[in-house]
Amino acid sequence: MHTVVPAPCDGLLTGYFYLGQTVVRKFLAFGTLGLALAACGGEPEPDRQAVARGEKLAVNCSPCHSLKSRSEGIGPPLLGVIGRKAGGYPGYDYSPALKASGISWAPEQLASFIQNPVGVVPGTKMALSPLSPQEASDIVAYLRSLD
Ligand code: HEC
Repeated sequence: MHTVVPAPCDGLLTGYFYLGQTVVRKFLAFGTLGLALAACGGEPEPDRQAVARGEKLAVNCSPCHSLKSRSEGIGPPLLGVIGRKAGGYPGYDYSPALKASGISWAPEQLASFIQNPVGVVPGTKMALSPLSPQEASDIVAYLRSLD
């Protein structure tokens, strides 16, 4: 089992081993490295990495959106966008389609919109080259970190 266990968790798992085979079997039955990592306090790591990746990927947004201030570009500012009502930035000239969409920018909504703006809100005036689901969720992680 030592071959599949990341170094920092080794001690922990060995501990479980000495507690008894049953516990080890249960632990391994859950089967996931993720669980082992969570138990070792490795959980926050992916988030920080996602934010760092998202920051780089945000070059896809910055030509049209300000990310760090609430000023308008070609698009509305993205600072504070999480939780905002779609079309809700005061004074920005949104498409009727986005204003009427009824969306609130929860993280999942935001991630699907930036993967396929026209698919999610037909008639939006936002155009963007395609992003993978991973890229979209990294960008959303970054936007959340700005709020
Ligand atoms: C080519 C310019 C352009 C690029 C690049 C672009 N956007 Fe947009 N974005 C817009 C425009 C224009 C709107 C307003 C759309 C409308 O009114 O239908 C918009 C709207 C939005 C909205 C809705 C905001 C609100 O207040 O309702 C979000 C969220 C958004 N963009 C996120 C992003 C993200 C994240 C990226 C980068 C991955 C990105 N956009 C890239 C032009 C762009």
